[in-house]
Amino acid sequence: MASTSTIQGAISRCLTDRRRNGKGPVVAQAAVTKEISRWKLPELPTLVITTATEPLTKRPIEIIEENDKFNSGKFGRFGGKFVPETLTASLSQLEAEFNRALHDQVFQEELATLLRDYAGRDTPLFYAERLTEYYKSNNNGEGPEIYLKREDLNHGGSHQMNNAIGQALLAKRMGLKRVVTATAAGQTGLATAAVCAKLGLECTVYMAAKDKEKQSSMVRLMKLLGAQVEAVEGGFKDATSEAIRGWANDLDSSYFLTGLAIGPHPCPTMVREFQSVIGKETRRQAMEKWGGKPDVLVASVGTGSSALGLFHEFLQDIDVRLVGVEAAGSGLDTGKHSSSLAKGEVGVYHGAMSYLLQDEDGQIIIPHSIAPELEYPGVGPELSFLKDSGRAEFHSVTDEEALNAYQRLCKLEGIFISLEAAHALGILDKLVPTLKSGTKLVVNCSGRGDKDVDIVFEHRGCLEAFSGL
Ligand SMILES: Cc1ncc(COP(=O)(O)O)c(C=O)c1O
Repeated sequence: MASTSTIQGAISRCLTDRRRNGKGPVVAQAAVTKEISRWKLPELPTLVITTATEPLTKRPIEIIEENDKFNSGKFGRFGGKFVPETLTASLSQLEAEFNRALHDQVFQEELATLLRDYAGRDTPLFYAERLTEYYKSNNNGEGPEIYLKREDLNHGGSHQMNNAIGQALLAKRMGLKRVVTATAAGQTGLATAAVCAKLGLECTVYMAAKDKEKQSSMVRLMKLLGAQVEAVEGGFKDATSEAIRGWANDLDSSYFLTGLAIGPHPCPTMVREFQSVIGKETRRQAMEKWGGKPDVLVASVGTGSSALGLFHEFLQDIDVRLVGVEAAGSGLDTGKHSSSLAKGEVGVYHGAMSYLLQDEDGQIIIPHSIAPELEYPGVGPELSFLKDSGRAEFHSVTDEEALNAYQRLCKLEGIFISLEAAHALGILDKLVPTLKSGTKLVVNCSGRGDKDVDIVFEHRGCLEAFSGL
């Protein structure tokens, strides 16, 4: 194991290199590199209206198969392990332990038991009858059947519990005592704090000071669960940088538990793997409910943990259409958004290559969304690859559209989902009129939305801004 001083030297070169970009606050730039323009793809069209089954070339599927087989951490040209040499040994150790755990029956049984008895899985695949009727009545009786995958019903209120359980078990298996993580809306922090309490691990949650203030009830809950909540200057990305530093400065006893599908290999692969229970369950539940597969899957996209959780099981079913929805914030042309796939360019950040919001000098552009956990300036490597390969399609939904979707679901189904998840529902206004009756559409409701009530009231005042359903 490398000594602390060597590690600190490397970390201070790589991760604590703080520069001013002249436009905003100090940002932590983890070796952002801008890619040459020959890799740039044309802009995403505004909603492509297609049938569910667009034929793909063979290559992306071959690459998907290869990734699955070798678990290499490379998704086409994305992913990798862009870290100082001093961290590679720890990451290799983590990768080896993760691979062993995947094939260890004792680990798998413990994981399955906690997912069932602690998280409360299976989560329902719920037929949203009134939402379905609402869209049909606006479209001459035509339209898909809409189902909600209720990840908001997990203990802790989000899909984050799936990954937190898996990774905390791994930390314990490796004999590490302390878990560090970052959170924005609090859902990653809450899930991690809860599992750490359950498994007797110490937990430190890094959170931007502004998010701590906005999500004060989540902060109190994390503290009650025994976590230390550290305030960080800046935003969610800075909290993530701080969590990486917290881990890198204490490799002998710390574990970096990311809830996002980012970071150096094996982090994004682990997150995807522990979240893939969502899609596996969805396949089984669809078979039980209508004797087939879903036709269209929809999920919000911050970095991809919830989207990949639903999509991954179906990557090779090319008749299943995969729709990811990024945050358009105040609008894609305002510069105030979090749409890294629509507007970003390829570069390296937080240890991996992916699509990033960056300026001409390769400096990170501060992202914006009304949904705090979507405010990350990049997207994970696997979704970046799914965009380039054409296997998944991506669209963007504004703050206002997400607020409408949040309120509509409250009124029609009595279900309050997080503003992050409301982005997935927000695309339905444009997507649904393009789909035939009989289409089975599943939306990933990744989190519950009581944490967002104050934000909704702050933006909507007495709620009159949303007059319709
Ligand atoms: C409930 C919920 N939904 C969506 C997201 C968006 O991130 P990702 O794209 O990684 O799922 C998050 C992030 O933590 C989240 O907590």
